[in-house]
Amino acid sequence: MSKSTLSIVDNRTGKSYEIPIENGTIRAMDLRQIKTGPDDFGLMSYDPAFMNTASCKSAITFIDGEKGILRYRGYPIEQLAEKSTFLETAYLLLHGELPNKQQLDDWVYEITHHRFLHENIKKFMDGFRYDAHPMGVFVSTVAALSTFYKEANQIKDPEVRRKQIVRLIAKGPTIAAFAYRHSVGLPYVYPDDELSYAGNFLNMMFRATETKYKPNPVLERALDVLFILHADHEQNCSTNAMRSVGSSEVDPYSAMAAAAAALYGPLHGGANEQVLRMLREIGDKKNVPAYIKRVKNKEVLLMGFGHRVYKNYDPRASIIKRIADEVFEVTGKNPLIDIAVELERIALEDEYFISHKLYPNVDFYSGIIYEAMGFPVSMFPVLFAIGRTPGWLAQWEEMLRDPERKIARPRQVYIGADKRDYVPMEKRK
Ligand code: ACO
Repeated sequence: MSKSTLSIVDNRTGKSYEIPIENGTIRAMDLRQIKTGPDDFGLMSYDPAFMNTASCKSAITFIDGEKGILRYRGYPIEQLAEKSTFLETAYLLLHGELPNKQQLDDWVYEITHHRFLHENIKKFMDGFRYDAHPMGVFVSTVAALSTFYKEANQIKDPEVRRKQIVRLIAKGPTIAAFAYRHSVGLPYVYPDDELSYAGNFLNMMFRATETKYKPNPVLERALDVLFILHADHEQNCSTNAMRSVGSSEVDPYSAMAAAAAALYGPLHGGANEQVLRMLREIGDKKNVPAYIKRVKNKEVLLMGFGHRVYKNYDPRASIIKRIADEVFEVTGKNPLIDIAVELERIALEDEYFISHKLYPNVDFYSGIIYEAMGFPVSMFPVLFAIGRTPGWLAQWEEMLRDPERKIARPRQVYIGADKRDYVPMEKRK
């Protein structure tokens, strides 16, 4: 009968070990018993960038990168994008189940009534330079929230945690819109409780002199779906930051600021900004083959392509491509879409991209839609952060409830100098 164990023979000592296999993994700590002698620390696994290490057990998001599958709490992303709303999806991520009518109404009411920022936060945001990048402002302001809600550090109290989760989901769009309005010198627009989550965000971003802002329903729904598509993605770089920083038991504002900072990088949530810059640089469909050549020569990356987990079409990219058509019917076509479609067409036929399993990821088309909707490129990572907020918080909550939780603290393989004595200045070369 087959056994769920792994037999290891240490050829240094000739000793054999039998290690349990659970959920397709072995515990790295089980390797520690493998020693050459009593002074040996024991075997470790070496895995820079966590290429093959599960850092937690999670019941939130399932991805099959080979098949291009993404599910939140078991529900396929395609069904949620078609039938759910962002706030309902946020509830699902956080609670594990879809809400009933009353639960959803209460949840939406609570989020809607926590959108306002303390007036001092507004003053704090005023202090940023006129040309501050909105993502830098977002990261700093989220961190600053911890100074306004001092109870937030009582992270062992579930009710305190719940309150901060509501605040972060509710206030994220307000911070984001204020960051944008600050960067263009426009007065801040306060939340409108009569509007939906996405509709109100559009109001806070774009309202001009009208007394009542009426969001275009197609754009409102498109934005809501884009938030759903970004809501969680298991143990990506920013979520890992959320869990890792949160494992020190710091308050959620500080942990989420760290997660948002991780998202800011061009290899993660900053990629959609880079995609737009790349498409502008290419400038015309006829320049696509020359650009692909540069990618294959490894001079540049094809931004918005490739993914650590997806080795197939990112399911979010196909949904976004469909949304693009609906949005362009309202806004007019973004001319960059033709370049993007041509890039995708050529890349998907090319041996380099096929053999490297490089497909469009979520960022490839999202920026083109955001731009058509009137968002400046610098706001793209901020939009991503608003969408990802419930995911970060669900993962944080799950981490805190995990009986195996400990402070995240990887090991290292030390390859530096052996012990040596301090050299006085006059004797140094
Ligand atoms: N363009 C060209 N070549 C690429 C690309 C790309 N976008 N992505 C990967 N490759 C190549 C690498 O050069 C490497 O080639 P080699 O084996 O011949 O040396 C191979 O594919 C594997 O690439 P890695 O960088 O090792 O893959 P990794 O899993 O570490 O990186 C990442 C994943 C960071 C997403 C990468 O594909 C990338 O930089 N893409 C562009 C940036 C981007 O779109 N990021 C958004 C990701 S989605 C998100 O965060 C929401």
